Amino acid sequence: MLYIGVDLGTSAVKLLLMDGEGQIQKIVSKEYPIYFPHPGWSEQKPEDWFEQTMIGLKELLADCDKSQVAGISFGGQMHGLVVLDENDAVIRPALLWNDGRTTEECDYLNNVIGKEKLSEYTANISFTGFTAPKILWMKNKEPENFARIKKIMLPKDYIAYKLTGVHCTDVSDASGMLVFDVKNRCWSKEMLDICGISEDQMAKVYESYESVGCVLPEIAAELGIPETTKVAAGAGDNAAAAVGTGTVGDGQCNISLGTSGTVFISSEKFGVDKNNALHAFAHADGHYHLMGCMLSAASCNKWWMDEIIGTTDYAAEQKQIEKLGENHVYFLPYLMGERSPHNDPNARATFIGMTMDTTRADMTQAVLEGVAFALRDSLEVARSLGIPIKRTKICGGGAKSPLWKKIIANVLNIKVDVPANEEGPSMGGAMLAAVACGEYANVEEAAAKIVKVVDTVEPNPELAAKYEDRYQKFRRIYPACKPLFGLIR
Ligand code: XUL
Repeated sequence: MLYIGVDLGTSAVKLLLMDGEGQIQKIVSKEYPIYFPHPGWSEQKPEDWFEQTMIGLKELLADCDKSQVAGISFGGQMHGLVVLDENDAVIRPALLWNDGRTTEECDYLNNVIGKEKLSEYTANISFTGFTAPKILWMKNKEPENFARIKKIMLPKDYIAYKLTGVHCTDVSDASGMLVFDVKNRCWSKEMLDICGISEDQMAKVYESYESVGCVLPEIAAELGIPETTKVAAGAGDNAAAAVGTGTVGDGQCNISLGTSGTVFISSEKFGVDKNNALHAFAHADGHYHLMGCMLSAASCNKWWMDEIIGTTDYAAEQKQIEKLGENHVYFLPYLMGERSPHNDPNARATFIGMTMDTTRADMTQAVLEGVAFALRDSLEVARSLGIPIKRTKICGGGAKSPLWKKIIANVLNIKVDVPANEEGPSMGGAMLAAVACGEYANVEEAAAKIVKVVDTVEPNPELAAKYEDRYQKFRRIYPACKPLFGLIR
């Protein structure tokens, strides 16, 4: 049988076709625009997501035996607010996970409702990218749109809705809404009240590997696939990526180097970081996870290469980098503000330490290192909770770079296990579809049978020591700059 994983990302939708043994048959990617209508705001059109997904699906299936397609599932960019009216029309463009407009609403939630209450209801506190402050923003700033809301959904759930007609979501993605009781895996009545919404506007919640139904007959006909093709609820992109890299069960770690950068730690038991610096979310394997999320990771390198240097040859630029661990230039990677661990939408990207002999390669290196240092910030929070992390998997576009993986292994001083492919969320989506169709008994079995580690990047003690020294310096830059970020907005 064949299974399709749809990774509804921020820069593109990636579609992956996998057979029952977990072999990738084909990958297709389709881009769509992102809109930044004000500094720090970030929006996309759900209609674009669906249009490009359908175009991509047709291309993906063009030369396979379509009668063998058994299941479809997702990894999706998290936290985005998609709102539909009573005719199922999209009311306004979706506010994305890296949108920083909701500072006032976050202050209200964290300081007036209070972090203790939020943590009691949802296991998390408010960050500007989360969905609840966006709902409140619409209520406060666009009351006429807010009054029209019939259905609230997350980005990938809009695709599932268009494919099946079922208003559904899954536990991992719902966890990032701040209206979900993560521990008990259900909507929080208290949070729905605080946001001024009701449960019938919300989706039915499934485990990630559960089927929500079959594709609609008209979708089956358009794609040429059987009407019995099941759609599984899927997961937020980080939980899906964790499935795709075999980060399931207890105490496993995955780093995703996509538009965002995440440190994801799977856990069999529910647990909360008492300072809520790490998110405590449900996992797609039926358990839980902790996660730190930086808002700009591979996107910093893309910005530096595409917009500033003006090149598409990332590898050629990285070839010029020779002196690892000796760079005197530092880069704070806060192009969209920062989530974990600073929770500061006003933070900004910064280069510091240049001298007359600084080269373009030093600046490129600083960008790669700045992202690695910021990932280490999240890892340090996990370490402070007593979670011993000795090794990690890695996925995402940035994981294609051998140099970046080496920098990460040495900055974090852990072993980096490299899976056979970097396709975390789309692979995880296809695996969840396979579990929903009964090809594997559960997510752990699918991961054990499908995921293969092909290489391990080991830290070098001498280089790790140099990076330790540089990381201690990096840590001091953000607190020193923080008072200025408020001024230069
Ligand atoms: C996670 C987060 C990002 C997005 C990126 O909390 O906001 O990783 O899911 O797609």
